Amino acid sequence: MEVQSAEFIKSSAHPQECPPDDRPEYAFIGRSNVGKSSLINMLTNRKALAKISSTPGKTQLINHFVIDDGVKETSGRRSWYLVDLPGFGYAKVSRTSRVKWQRTSEQYLTARTNLMCVMMLIDSRHPPQKVDLEFMGWMGENSLPFAMVFTKVDKLNQTERADFLPLYEAEMLKRWHRLPPVYVTSSEKGEGREELLRFIEQTNGLFEG
Ligand code: GTP
Ligand code: MG
Repeated sequence: MEVQSAEFIKSSAHPQECPPDDRPEYAFIGRSNVGKSSLINMLTNRKALAKISSTPGKTQLINHFVIDDGVKETSGRRSWYLVDLPGFGYAKVSRTSRVKWQRTSEQYLTARTNLMCVMMLIDSRHPPQKVDLEFMGWMGENSLPFAMVFTKVDKLNQTERADFLPLYEAEMLKRWHRLPPVYVTSSEKGEGREELLRFIEQTNGLFEG
Protein backbone atom coordinates (compact mmCIF):
# COMPACT_ATOMS: atom_id res chain seq x y z
CA MET A 1 0.00 0.00 0.00
CA GLU A 2 1.26 3.49 -0.78
CA VAL A 3 0.05 6.54 1.11
CA GLN A 4 -1.47 9.00 -1.34
CA SER A 5 -2.35 11.82 0.99
CA ALA A 6 -1.78 12.64 4.63
CA GLU A 7 -3.17 15.64 6.40
CA PHE A 8 -3.16 16.87 9.97
CA ILE A 9 -6.74 17.31 11.23
CA LYS A 10 -6.65 18.41 14.83
CA SER A 11 -5.16 18.15 18.27
CA SER A 12 -7.65 17.18 20.95
CA ALA A 13 -7.14 17.67 24.66
CA HIS A 14 -9.96 15.23 25.48
CA PRO A 15 -11.26 12.06 23.86
CA GLN A 16 -14.69 13.71 23.31
CA GLU A 17 -13.10 16.28 21.00
CA CYS A 18 -11.73 13.71 18.57
CA PRO A 19 -12.98 13.65 14.94
CA PRO A 20 -15.90 11.34 13.99
CA ASP A 21 -15.11 7.64 14.45
CA ASP A 22 -16.02 6.86 10.85
CA ARG A 23 -12.82 5.16 9.69
CA PRO A 24 -10.24 2.73 11.06
CA GLU A 25 -7.75 4.30 13.46
CA TYR A 26 -4.22 3.44 14.60
CA ALA A 27 -2.68 5.08 17.63
CA PHE A 28 1.07 5.42 17.95
CA ILE A 29 2.25 5.41 21.52
CA GLY A 30 5.48 4.98 23.39
CA ARG A 31 7.91 6.65 25.73
CA SER A 32 9.12 10.13 24.94
CA ASN A 33 11.83 10.22 22.32
CA VAL A 34 11.11 6.66 21.15
CA GLY A 35 10.65 7.94 17.60
CA LYS A 36 6.86 8.23 17.17
CA SER A 37 6.83 11.41 15.13
CA SER A 38 9.72 10.20 12.98
CA LEU A 39 7.93 6.92 12.28
CA ILE A 40 4.72 8.74 11.35
CA ASN A 41 6.64 10.92 8.91
CA MET A 42 8.44 7.88 7.53
CA LEU A 43 5.19 5.93 6.99
CA THR A 44 3.44 8.83 5.31
CA ASN A 45 6.52 9.88 3.36
CA ARG A 46 6.28 13.42 4.69
CA LYS A 47 9.18 15.35 6.09
CA ALA A 48 7.41 17.18 8.87
CA LEU A 49 3.87 15.91 9.18
CA ALA A 50 4.27 15.11 12.83
CA LYS A 51 6.56 17.64 14.36
CA ILE A 52 9.85 16.05 15.27
CA SER A 53 11.34 17.66 18.27
CA SER A 54 14.64 17.12 19.92
CA THR A 55 12.92 18.12 23.16
CA PRO A 56 11.31 15.04 24.68
CA GLY A 57 7.69 15.33 25.79
CA LYS A 58 6.78 17.90 23.13
CA THR A 59 3.75 16.11 21.72
CA GLN A 60 1.12 16.97 24.30
CA LEU A 61 -2.22 16.16 22.75
CA ILE A 62 -4.17 13.54 20.82
CA ASN A 63 -3.07 14.42 17.29
CA HIS A 64 -5.24 13.13 14.46
CA PHE A 65 -4.03 12.76 10.89
CA VAL A 66 -6.23 11.53 8.06
CA ILE A 67 -4.63 9.29 5.46
CA ASP A 68 -6.00 8.96 1.93
CA ASP A 69 -9.10 11.01 2.64
CA GLY A 70 -11.58 10.61 -0.21
CA VAL A 71 -9.79 7.64 -1.76
CA LYS A 72 -12.15 5.54 -3.91
CA GLU A 73 -13.18 2.49 -1.89
CA THR A 74 -13.69 0.56 -5.11
CA SER A 75 -9.90 0.46 -5.33
CA GLY A 76 -10.04 -1.88 -2.32
CA ARG A 77 -8.34 0.80 -0.21
CA ARG A 78 -9.81 3.08 2.32
CA SER A 79 -9.12 6.16 4.31
CA TRP A 80 -7.79 5.77 7.85
CA TYR A 81 -6.73 7.83 10.84
CA LEU A 82 -3.31 7.91 12.33
CA VAL A 83 -2.95 9.25 15.88
CA ASP A 84 0.18 10.60 17.51
CA LEU A 85 -0.22 10.34 21.28
CA PRO A 86 1.78 12.09 23.98
CA GLY A 87 4.89 10.22 25.01
CA PHE A 88 4.82 8.74 28.48
CA GLY A 89 7.41 8.28 31.17
CA TYR A 90 9.26 11.51 30.64
CA ALA A 91 10.92 12.36 33.96
CA LYS A 92 11.18 16.12 33.53
CA VAL A 93 7.43 16.61 33.14
CA SER A 94 5.78 17.31 36.49
CA ARG A 95 3.99 14.43 38.18
CA THR A 96 0.66 16.23 37.92
CA SER A 97 0.85 16.69 34.18
CA ARG A 98 2.17 13.15 33.77
CA VAL A 99 -0.81 11.74 35.61
CA LYS A 100 -3.15 13.98 33.62
CA TRP A 101 -1.71 12.82 30.31
CA GLN A 102 -1.79 9.22 31.33
CA ARG A 103 -5.45 9.59 32.20
CA THR A 104 -6.24 11.31 28.90
CA SER A 105 -4.44 8.62 26.89
CA GLU A 106 -6.11 5.82 28.80
CA GLN A 107 -9.55 7.40 28.39
CA TYR A 108 -8.93 7.86 24.69
CA LEU A 109 -7.66 4.30 24.21
CA THR A 110 -10.55 2.65 26.01
CA ALA A 111 -13.29 4.90 24.58
CA ARG A 112 -12.38 5.09 20.90
CA THR A 113 -14.57 2.54 19.09
CA ASN A 114 -12.80 2.73 15.72
CA LEU A 115 -9.36 2.01 17.20
CA MET A 116 -8.12 -1.05 15.31
CA CYS A 117 -4.68 -1.44 16.81
CA VAL A 118 -2.31 0.41 19.10
CA MET A 119 1.19 0.69 17.71
CA MET A 120 3.36 0.28 20.79
CA LEU A 121 6.73 1.80 19.95
CA ILE A 122 9.74 0.40 21.73
CA ASP A 123 13.32 1.64 21.44
CA SER A 124 15.32 -1.37 20.22
CA ARG A 125 18.49 -0.10 21.92
CA HIS A 126 17.24 -0.63 25.46
CA PRO A 127 16.48 -3.80 27.43
CA PRO A 128 12.77 -4.27 28.23
CA GLN A 129 11.63 -1.31 30.35
CA LYS A 130 9.21 -1.65 33.24
CA VAL A 131 6.92 1.18 32.04
CA ASP A 132 6.60 -0.41 28.59
CA LEU A 133 5.87 -3.87 29.99
CA GLU A 134 3.34 -2.43 32.42
CA PHE A 135 1.64 -0.44 29.71
CA MET A 136 1.32 -3.51 27.49
CA GLY A 137 -0.06 -5.37 30.51
CA TRP A 138 -2.64 -2.63 30.93
CA MET A 139 -3.64 -2.94 27.26
CA GLY A 140 -3.99 -6.69 27.69
CA GLU A 141 -6.25 -6.24 30.72
CA ASN A 142 -8.37 -3.84 28.68
CA SER A 143 -8.47 -6.15 25.64
CA LEU A 144 -6.84 -3.54 23.43
CA PRO A 145 -5.16 -5.06 20.39
CA PHE A 146 -1.61 -3.85 19.96
CA ALA A 147 1.49 -4.47 17.88
CA MET A 148 5.07 -4.06 19.08
CA VAL A 149 6.99 -1.72 16.82
CA PHE A 150 10.71 -1.59 17.52
CA THR A 151 12.37 1.68 16.51
CA LYS A 152 15.86 2.94 15.65
CA VAL A 153 17.28 -0.43 14.57
CA ASP A 154 19.78 1.40 12.37
CA LYS A 155 21.55 2.33 15.59
CA LEU A 156 22.29 -1.30 16.50
CA ASN A 157 25.44 -3.17 15.61
CA GLN A 158 25.21 -6.68 14.16
CA THR A 159 25.28 -8.49 17.48
CA GLU A 160 22.71 -6.20 19.08
CA ARG A 161 20.57 -6.53 16.01
CA ALA A 162 20.59 -10.33 16.29
CA ASP A 163 19.94 -10.33 20.04
CA PHE A 164 17.39 -7.65 20.92
CA LEU A 165 14.28 -9.36 19.61
CA PRO A 166 14.76 -12.85 21.11
CA LEU A 167 15.58 -11.13 24.43
CA TYR A 168 12.47 -8.99 24.33
CA GLU A 169 10.26 -11.89 23.27
CA ALA A 170 11.59 -14.06 26.10
CA GLU A 171 10.67 -11.28 28.55
CA MET A 172 7.18 -10.98 27.03
CA LEU A 173 6.60 -14.73 27.21
CA LYS A 174 7.02 -14.57 30.99
CA ARG A 175 3.69 -12.73 31.10
CA TRP A 176 1.93 -13.58 27.85
CA HIS A 177 0.91 -16.87 26.25
CA ARG A 178 1.21 -15.45 22.79
CA LEU A 179 3.19 -12.61 21.27
CA PRO A 180 1.49 -9.71 19.49
CA PRO A 181 2.54 -8.85 15.93
CA VAL A 182 6.11 -7.52 15.88
CA TYR A 183 7.61 -4.94 13.49
CA VAL A 184 11.21 -3.86 13.30
CA THR A 185 11.74 -0.35 11.95
CA SER A 186 14.16 2.43 11.20
CA SER A 187 12.74 5.81 10.28
CA GLU A 188 16.20 6.80 9.18
CA LYS A 189 16.44 3.97 6.62
CA GLY A 190 12.78 3.37 5.83
CA GLU A 191 13.05 -0.15 7.20
CA GLY A 192 9.78 -1.85 8.13
CA ARG A 193 7.67 0.65 6.22
CA GLU A 194 6.15 -1.76 3.72
CA GLU A 195 5.43 -4.38 6.36
CA LEU A 196 3.65 -1.90 8.65
CA LEU A 197 1.62 -0.39 5.82
CA ARG A 198 0.62 -3.87 4.67
CA PHE A 199 -0.53 -4.72 8.20
CA ILE A 200 -2.59 -1.52 8.31
CA GLU A 201 -4.11 -2.23 4.90
CA GLN A 202 -5.10 -5.76 5.97
CA THR A 203 -6.49 -4.54 9.28
CA ASN A 204 -8.44 -1.76 7.51
CA GLY A 205 -10.28 -4.56 5.74
CA LEU A 206 -11.73 -5.66 9.11
CA PHE A 207 -13.30 -2.27 9.87
CA GLU A 208 -17.08 -2.21 9.87
CA GLY A 209 -18.07 1.38 9.73
P1 GTP B 1 8.21 12.96 21.69
O1 GTP B 1 7.14 13.47 20.76
O2 GTP B 1 9.05 14.04 22.23
O3 GTP B 1 7.69 12.06 22.74
O4 GTP B 1 9.25 12.10 20.82
P2 GTP B 1 8.94 11.09 19.63
O5 GTP B 1 8.67 9.74 20.17
O6 GTP B 1 7.95 11.67 18.67
O7 GTP B 1 10.39 10.98 18.94
P3 GTP B 1 10.93 11.75 17.64
O8 GTP B 1 10.36 11.18 16.41
O9 GTP B 1 10.82 13.20 17.85
O10 GTP B 1 12.47 11.26 17.67
C1 GTP B 1 13.33 11.51 18.77
C2 GTP B 1 14.78 11.53 18.30
O11 GTP B 1 15.17 10.24 17.79
C3 GTP B 1 15.04 12.50 17.14
O12 GTP B 1 16.31 13.07 17.33
C4 GTP B 1 15.02 11.61 15.91
O13 GTP B 1 15.79 12.11 14.85
C5 GTP B 1 15.62 10.31 16.45
N1 GTP B 1 15.09 9.14 15.70
C6 GTP B 1 13.82 8.77 15.58
N2 GTP B 1 13.68 7.64 14.84
C7 GTP B 1 14.94 7.28 14.49
C8 GTP B 1 15.48 6.18 13.71
O14 GTP B 1 14.79 5.30 13.20
N3 GTP B 1 16.83 6.14 13.60
C9 GTP B 1 17.65 7.08 14.16
N4 GTP B 1 18.97 6.93 13.99
N5 GTP B 1 17.18 8.11 14.88
C10 GTP B 1 15.84 8.22 15.05
MG1 MG C 1 6.60 13.33 18.85
